[in-house]
Amino acid sequence: MIPLEASALNDDTLPWQVTVLDEVGSTSDWLKQNAADLPSGTVVFTESQTAGRGRRENRWIAPRGKDLMFSLLLQPASSMEKWPRITTLAALAICKAIEAELPLQPRIKWPNDVYLSDRKVSGLLAETVSTREGMRIVLGIGLNVNTLDFPAELSATSLLQQLQPVSIREIDRNALAHRLLTVLHTEFQGLEDGFSAAVAEVREHSWLIGRQIRARAPQGEVFGRVLDLNEEGHLILEFPDGSSHTLTSADEVRRV
Ligand code: BTN
Repeated sequence: MIPLEASALNDDTLPWQVTVLDEVGSTSDWLKQNAADLPSGTVVFTESQTAGRGRRENRWIAPRGKDLMFSLLLQPASSMEKWPRITTLAALAICKAIEAELPLQPRIKWPNDVYLSDRKVSGLLAETVSTREGMRIVLGIGLNVNTLDFPAELSATSLLQQLQPVSIREIDRNALAHRLLTVLHTEFQGLEDGFSAAVAEVREHSWLIGRQIRARAPQGEVFGRVLDLNEEGHLILEFPDGSSHTLTSADEVRRV
């Protein structure tokens, strides 16, 4: 296993200050605990998490040294109502970084996941934290890179698994992580004016448009066909009675 190296990830042309920890409970918890003392732009990667978290109190489990687990501390200049756009831009950045490094076609499973061949390869967790400097975002990203075995019930995959049978032993995580940091920076610049152009690219990468889905939305369980994403990146759903409805958030989105 080639270790992650801070020297390979720090780059003066990017606004990130990258730290690599050998082991931590959760990179997102670590950033939240230390947010008051750290500049925005701090990014922490780890080789191993002992208490990795996903959404809805799920755990995020990954073997040591195989994948990418990292969190970014962000303080966007735009108003907070635009902050949910960060998740959309980050999902797009993950797709573009994968495409730039590997012959794979990732898809975005709105709102927080990236899929390859109908299996989850990456998940995003955006949380806010209050500091003396104001509210900030801790954006946690887990990306399965070199893990080859997953419990069947997880419906998960990794980049290396998707490249099989091409015989690469290990995907270079430093090169991929550097690419991710570069593309995340580029995409975050679309938070204000460039957002509708980003949504157009998200549409091209959607795993859901045109599909029947079932989802747990704030208003309850919903079922319908995904028509499109609106300008804000929200999901436009057509219900069986022909009416349409916009979902701003949802959990447990499933294609049916
Ligand atoms: C999800 O799919 O539910 C989101 C998963 C987010 C996992 C990442 S791994 C790095 C960071 N630290 C955590 O504890 N969680 C996020």
